[in-house]
Amino acid sequence: MNTLPYTGVERSLHWFSAVIIIWIIWALDSGFYVSLFEVSMALKGLLTFINISLTTVLIPFFVVRVSLAAWRHVLVARTARLPVERLASFVHGLIYLVMSIVLVTGVLMMDQVINVFDLVFIPQPLEDPYWISLFFRMHVFACIVLAVLVALHVCAVVKHEISGRRVLANMWFKR
Ligand code: HEM
Ligand code: HEM
Repeated sequence: MNTLPYTGVERSLHWFSAVIIIWIIWALDSGFYVSLFEVSMALKGLLTFINISLTTVLIPFFVVRVSLAAWRHVLVARTARLPVERLASFVHGLIYLVMSIVLVTGVLMMDQVINVFDLVFIPQPLEDPYWISLFFRMHVFACIVLAVLVALHVCAVVKHEISGRRVLANMWFKR
């Protein structure tokens, strides 16, 4: 829980990245479209293309978000009195750290040009198959850790709401 109200920019960045991350983890990790439907290779390729484009677009937004969060965490560390506030601040910091690892390893494991919606083309950063495969394994592992942290995060929000602490109102858009 956070005692400082979030700004409109922070709220927008939170929900923008939350929607993308939940979609990516669900779509890629559960392979739901493969298990539910008999998908063609073309459709699978299209979904991978959209997912890679979306997560690459997320990177600059993530940099802005982490900068704003770093400032917030400094303020909260100074003002937060309750252990639960410090714990929340620690877990949020952990989410940012794991997200950075997911984004960096995602880029480094690419074995082809990073094609962002056919508009921007970023060269493949590494050539050595050893490093590409190592970063792929790190990416998969970091994604699992991120999925667990997100699940814990959502459970914590539900728990706070049930016990009467309206944390969602702090992150939701006010009229
Ligand atoms: C349905 C899904 C989600 C809900 C309901 C939700 C809700 C919230 C709420 C209410 C807060 C404010 C907590 C407070 O006042 O301290 C918050 C903060 C946060 N959320 Fe989420 N969230 C969701 C998904 C995600 C996802 C997918 C991520 C990223 C992987 C994420 C990362 C964060 C982070 C890092 C913060 C701390 C912001 C900061 O203080 O810098 N959330 N979330
Ligand atoms: C927060 C952002 C990201 C999340 C949550 C995420 C999540 C995932 C997940 C869950 C998988 C499936 C792993 C498995 O095989 O079990 C995956 C695979 C993959 N990711 Fe990421 N990723 C992110 C960012 C990136 C970025 C920035 C890139 C590259 C620019 C990238 C490239 C890939 C590629 C190429 C695959 C393999 C896809 C396939 O074989 O269909 N990811 N990602």
